[in-house]
Amino acid sequence: MSKKFITTPIYYINDIPHIGHAYTTIAADVLARYYKSKGDEVFFLTGTDEHGAKIAEAAKKAGKEPKEFVDSLIPVFKSAWKNLNIEYSEFFRTTDLKHEKIVQELVLELVEKGFVEKKKYDGLYCIGCEKYLKPSELVDGKCPDHKTQPVEQSEENYFFKLSEFGDKILEKINSDEIEIGPDSRKNEVVGKIKSGLEDVSISRAGVEWGIKFPGDDSQTIYVWVDALLNYYTATKIFGIEAWESHPADLHLMAKDILWFHAVIWPAMLLALELPLPKKVFAHGFFTVGGQKMSKTIGNVLDPNKLVDKYGADAIRYAVLREFPFGEDGDISEEKIANRYKNDLGNELGNLLQRTISMINKYGVTPDRKRSYFLSDEGEIEEADDEPTAELLYDDHIKNLQLEMALQSIWKLVRETNVLIDEKKPWNLAKEEKKLELERVLNLAFYRLCSIANLLFPFMPETSEKMKKQLEMLEPEVLFPRLDIGNG
Ligand code: MSP
Repeated sequence: MSKKFITTPIYYINDIPHIGHAYTTIAADVLARYYKSKGDEVFFLTGTDEHGAKIAEAAKKAGKEPKEFVDSLIPVFKSAWKNLNIEYSEFFRTTDLKHEKIVQELVLELVEKGFVEKKKYDGLYCIGCEKYLKPSELVDGKCPDHKTQPVEQSEENYFFKLSEFGDKILEKINSDEIEIGPDSRKNEVVGKIKSGLEDVSISRAGVEWGIKFPGDDSQTIYVWVDALLNYYTATKIFGIEAWESHPADLHLMAKDILWFHAVIWPAMLLALELPLPKKVFAHGFFTVGGQKMSKTIGNVLDPNKLVDKYGADAIRYAVLREFPFGEDGDISEEKIANRYKNDLGNELGNLLQRTISMINKYGVTPDRKRSYFLSDEGEIEEADDEPTAELLYDDHIKNLQLEMALQSIWKLVRETNVLIDEKKPWNLAKEEKKLELERVLNLAFYRLCSIANLLFPFMPETSEKMKKQLEMLEPEVLFPRLDIGNG
């Protein structure tokens, strides 16, 4: 048994969660459930990033004090995760007073160790990103992600001497002491480090909603420093022993914030002489219906509404199945509806229902002890081993190829449907080929048992339902037809 500490980003709590936040959280939950089912002790941390200008602005718009505003959204985040069957270990909030205190102590330590310097800074700040942008990063004078004009700011700030850590971080990344994935993103990060690191501002003069900078009440700690430190303070607040040897086994996020996790965070840890995370993985960014999700376009997908319509498992499945984990892609309600109808209803649900119905109809007693497989010649033979799909599946999950893991399960689903279509148990029954009939249905039964097991991390509810039906032999529709059209 080993210990695994898996994290999602802590999401800005300036609005209700959307499908983008759900995507990373579902992926983390799949991994947490997978490792737990293998007997590992897993600590799965998620939470909310509650300070900074972006939140203060949203609170103001809502006519609330920042703390009152963030408190009002906490139940919304928690219920979204509950509806999606996310089994996090703890929910972290940066307004936790214990966190605030430890953050101040750590920032003071950075100051005392000589890694902080006060200097004047003129720059273009994007509140949406909560970071300064270089003029070269702008498109038509606007932030390419938020399509808003950054604000010119000239402040005296405290700076963290990131520029001193380039070589050390490169060495840690190149030696895989910090594994960065996927490779394409790792190369981008390495390239950017090689082009030289600049010091980063770690305080804000004009932002009141934040943790006070130690020794200077006129400044607050930059929201990203506050946020990144959650991965450390959580280990103290929740007593995660794994920290002693390795802080996080896996930080999951999208590519938008990889730089913070792969470079700034390790540099802070090196400065504080704290251990480094083992792996940082950035999945892709998706569009919805071909466009960036935005309130103005009106294509923001609300996970709660989707769960109400399709159920948690269908959403968990559809988002992870649609495009490779690690690459950019596109999702839409139409795509989710199609997955529901085809992959889940027509393929998986139908396979389960017809197999159990035929087992009942032809009076076959499933052989729960023995297993069967299909030989290369198409003969059904007794198996003394596990089915092959499981082999690839484990590798895929360990390599974070979540979409491929699902594909390997669906290969088994499809092959089993083909098996039934080709062997035609109804004909075998008519022709009174009893042994053959038993073996075909036993093979289908056996495969459904392994499909139910393999599906568990992705679709826990469906997996349980399947296991129950396979146990009781009482078929029930897994994914009823929905009279909702496509979207
Ligand atoms: N608060 C910071 C994170 C601090 S972590 C120490 C933040 N918050 S965020 O609310 O903007 O969340 C960004 C993350 O949400 C992405 O990295 C990703 O995990 C998820 N996603 C948001 N939109 C997404 C897509 N359209 N596609 C994929 N992931 C998405 O950044």
